Amino acid sequence: MQKTYKIASIPGDGIGKEVVPHGQIIADVAARQHGFAIEWTVFDWSCETYLETGQMMPDDGIEQLKKFDAIYLGAVGWPTVPDHVSLWGLLLPIRREMNQYANIRHIRLLDGVQSPLAGRSPEDIDFIVVRENVEGEYSELGGRMNRGTPDELAIQEAVFTRKGTDRIMKYAFELAQKRARKQVTSATKSNGIKHSMPFWDERFAAMSAQYPDISTNQFHIDILTAHFVRNPDWFDVIVASNLFGDILSDLGPAIAGSIGIAPSANINPEREFPSMFEPVHGSAPDIAGKGIANPIGAIWTIAELLEHLGENAAAAQIEAAMQQSLMHDETKTADLGGSATTQGCVDTILNAM
Ligand code: NAI
Ligand code: MG
Repeated sequence: MQKTYKIASIPGDGIGKEVVPHGQIIADVAARQHGFAIEWTVFDWSCETYLETGQMMPDDGIEQLKKFDAIYLGAVGWPTVPDHVSLWGLLLPIRREMNQYANIRHIRLLDGVQSPLAGRSPEDIDFIVVRENVEGEYSELGGRMNRGTPDELAIQEAVFTRKGTDRIMKYAFELAQKRARKQVTSATKSNGIKHSMPFWDERFAAMSAQYPDISTNQFHIDILTAHFVRNPDWFDVIVASNLFGDILSDLGPAIAGSIGIAPSANINPEREFPSMFEPVHGSAPDIAGKGIANPIGAIWTIAELLEHLGENAAAAQIEAAMQQSLMHDETKTADLGGSATTQGCVDTILNAM
């Protein structure tokens, strides 16, 4: 019997709606060639839905998503709705309630793409940022007092649990074991942050001891950002807290070319819930509706989704085809200095497949 995967697709807003349908078509083509099928269910959850219904998704939205094998999301956010409403109404509840505690960003300079760093080629930039996605600095704990007075104050607590810290580090080490270089770098700040970061360092040392085959190092987050720019070739897998990982996972794609290319994944490693895959970019209101958005981010993302489902050959085929579209100006979109439309780039990829 042919295997059929159930995938929930949430195109979302702006260019999300333009690129996600192409990702679905490309996944279907790969599926046909590799002997499996995909049953798509498309949800129109978006800022548009919010303006009509007052909700980004229905009350039972999370329940509906739980029965899928994976979630494919475009981008959420539009100028007519405050960003904290769209984020807390859709993306964050999915990440948190599905326990997608590992946020993964693969940063690779692809052939045919120019890095903003002078003189860098694909062999210099190939690493993965593993960001803790549900605790750390992004917590609801804290409060404000004496509002509007000269004694006004705000307190924001960061939460680092042993369970949460160990499991993200374990994920990073196991990921490194699958890679040629077998190295994990810890992003820390134990010189300035007195309690949580020394704890983070202790757990990193304890975890390192369990993986003698993996080499390790650590940098304070400030100098680490400088090394991303000056020495991107030093890195393989980087593990970071929620805030530090957030920063590194935007800096990473920036040095690898265009934000229009980069994929990201929100993983529930235990597979109790579906994982969610989304391009790094947002809804791009400035170019939405013009048919010029770079579809590669969404396409690389669907390849990573298929890899997560165990369809490695299909994923590899998509990545190889995607790579071909980057080799000529006529088949690249404008953000990469090319002249192709979204459709033109997609057609090249489909032909290559
Ligand atoms: P953005 O990623 O939408 O756009 C930043 C710049 O990059 C823009 O100039 C845009 O034209 C360009 N760009 C982005 N993707 C591109 C692509 N595929 N091809 C060509 N150019 C591309 O970020 P921005 O403007 O800060 O946010 C716009 C909206 O998207 C906001 O409402 C924001 O909250 C939301 N957003 C949602 C994300 C998500 O769903 N995970 C992530 C980032 C932003
Ligand atoms: Mg970010």
